[in-house]
Amino acid sequence: MKSLPLVISIDGTSGSGKSTVSKRIAEILGIPYLNTGIMYRAVALWKKMGKDNFTYLSVVDDGVMINGNVISKKDLVGEDVGNLASVIAQDPEIRKRLVDIQRRWALSKGGVIEGRDIGSVVIPETENKFFITALPKIRAIRRMFQLGKKYVSEEDISKTLKEIEIRDKRDSNRTVSPLTIPKGAIVIDSSFLSIEEVVDLILEEIVL
Ligand code: C5P
Repeated sequence: MKSLPLVISIDGTSGSGKSTVSKRIAEILGIPYLNTGIMYRAVALWKKMGKDNFTYLSVVDDGVMINGNVISKKDLVGEDVGNLASVIAQDPEIRKRLVDIQRRWALSKGGVIEGRDIGSVVIPETENKFFITALPKIRAIRRMFQLGKKYVSEEDISKTLKEIEIRDKRDSNRTVSPLTIPKGAIVIDSSFLSIEEVVDLILEEIVL
C-alpha cells in the first residue's frame, strides 16, 4: 500500500485563526497549503451568479478557478460570502465533489489542509489532526480586524458575533460532515495565544 505523505489537518470554528496558523506552518515546513473554505465560498458565489453546475474547480494563486473562470480572492473574503458558503455547504452533492478534490490533493502531494471536516471526513487516516477554537467574542473581534477594520465598537462586535454564531451553529448541526472535533485531534484554544504560540504548539506535536 502506498504510504500517506505528510498531511496536517487543521479544523476549527470561524475566526479561530486557523487560516493564518495553517499558512504559517506550511511556510515553515516548506510544504503545500490548501484552504478548503475558499472552495465552498467560490461555489456559493458561482451559484449566486445563477450558474448551477461546474465541471472543473481548482484553487489557484489569486482565487478559485471554476470552469475556466477565476473568482478572485478579494471577492471571496467577506462575511456575507462566508454565510452563503455555509448554506450551500449543507448540500451533500456539493460536499462530495469538493471532498473528492481535497482528498486527491492530500493523497497526491500532502501538506497543510484546513477546514471543518478535514480530520473527520477528508483525510481521517492522518496522524496529525488539530482543532483550533477561541471564545466567540474574541473570534468576532479578530474577524473584523481581518476584514480591514481599524477600530471596532461594541455594536460592531455584537453584529459580527451574531453572524459567526449563526454560521457555527449551521456548520455544527448539518447532517452531512458537521463541524466536529475529529477523533484523535489535539484541541487548541487560541483565545489568549498569539499566532506564533499556536504555530509552536502544533509544530511540537507533529509526527513526521
Ligand atoms: O473557512 P471559511 O470560513 O472560509 O469557510 C466558509 C464556510 O464553508 C464555512 O462556514 C463552512 O460552512 C464551509 N466549509 C465546510 N467545510 C470545509 C470548509 C468550509 O463546510 N472543509
